Amino acid sequence: MLTRRRMLTTAAGLMALPPLRFAHAAGPAPIDLVARERSLALLPRSPARTPIWAYADDWPLVLRLPRGETFRATLHNELAEHTTIHWHGLRIPLAMDGVPYMTQKPVEPGQSFAYEFAPPDAGTFFFHPHCDTVTQLGRGLAGALIVEEPGERGLFAADLVCAIKDWQINPDGSFGAFITAKGASHAGTFGNIETVNGKPVAELAAPPGGWVRLRVLNLDSSRIVVLDLAGAQGHIIATDGNPTDGPIPVKGWRLGPAMRVDIAFRMPDGPVVLNNVFSTVPRPLARITASDAMAADSDAMPLLSPSHVPPADPRNAARLTFDLTAGHVSPQLEAWLKESGLGLDALCLPGQTFWSINGASWAGQSHQLTPPPLAELKLGQTYVFELFNGTPHPHPIHLHGHTFKVLRSTKKQIVPHLADTVLVAPKERVEICFIADNPGDWMMHCHIIEHQETGMMGYVRVA
Ligand code: C2O
Ligand code: CU
Repeated sequence: MLTRRRMLTTAAGLMALPPLRFAHAAGPAPIDLVARERSLALLPRSPARTPIWAYADDWPLVLRLPRGETFRATLHNELAEHTTIHWHGLRIPLAMDGVPYMTQKPVEPGQSFAYEFAPPDAGTFFFHPHCDTVTQLGRGLAGALIVEEPGERGLFAADLVCAIKDWQINPDGSFGAFITAKGASHAGTFGNIETVNGKPVAELAAPPGGWVRLRVLNLDSSRIVVLDLAGAQGHIIATDGNPTDGPIPVKGWRLGPAMRVDIAFRMPDGPVVLNNVFSTVPRPLARITASDAMAADSDAMPLLSPSHVPPADPRNAARLTFDLTAGHVSPQLEAWLKESGLGLDALCLPGQTFWSINGASWAGQSHQLTPPPLAELKLGQTYVFELFNGTPHPHPIHLHGHTFKVLRSTKKQIVPHLADTVLVAPKERVEICFIADNPGDWMMHCHIIEHQETGMMGYVRVA
């Protein structure tokens, strides 16, 4: 029999999920996440294995939790450097947000930290470290986190996970450089081995006639994919975990680092392929073939339960502008560094600062040195943030602790949708709106990790 722990940590891509029954309203059984080196065969046509870092033996690790019930996970750090876990996209209290120095002490080698929270929203999320992220996430330290609305299990005939993650690997299986000056100052360093669920193409199955929910997660540190579904009519039904107001066409949807979409489609007799159409030649990400079983689903697409994110009304909003530009250190930060007796050198991980938000650069160093906040927000007030990209590269901007509505863009027609990460194209202005209802200092940064670690990072204070 499967143990509870085993059930919670099944590998991605299983079509038939073991039934989860939670005996007590107290929530699922506590789990342990052991961060350490493990090995994974990632090179095609080579027996060489790669010393990845992971929380469990399965890669990708997929956790499924019921919404609203207390979840406990103890992180055990068996790495040689400190770490934390950030639960990306979850509107949970600051103390559980996993940002070293900002929200908790870093978890040192040999130490543990118990995370405990009740996920407030159902949907597709993920978790990853917030320390030396370029290396730790680069080596694979991440997991998918699926929060299920009670009673929603079985709504779809198949519930599938596609976790996109590339790797920079040498021919002998060892890792190449995670950060380069060229990558950090441009669009990021791209992996040479592209994978979905750790394979060149994710091979999945679904019963013909059934409705499929395909959860696509971009866990890569740099790559932006442009989605298209071939072989079936696909509808985006959730963005960054949050149900959309109505179905959005899949074709052309840009999924930057950290972004997720849930795609629904009715499984035909033939295969369905999820493609990346970023370049002119479509590249398959996942292939879903018909399984032997048949599903007798109705023609109507299943509907997700409505979002629990409080609706924000932009008419009542205070407006703030954030300019994403090339980096330099702001006069305030420089003054602050002088005052604190730390030189400018203390600021940057690779000794270089390429990016900034509103003229302020905050680079690397695991957040040990905290600059002033980018903005102070009033608890309970609605805000519209205008994000302007004054650089030649797109930036997926992530705000912690809140879920916002992407309202409009100066560059393209936007179907308003909820998100925690928004891709801002060069010269684009994007407006997002949310209620600042979670008190604390919340990180806001680019999720191209090399950009984050070379300056495109800051935080807002909600009080
Ligand atoms: Cu997914 Cu601050 O990050
Ligand atoms: Cu960026």
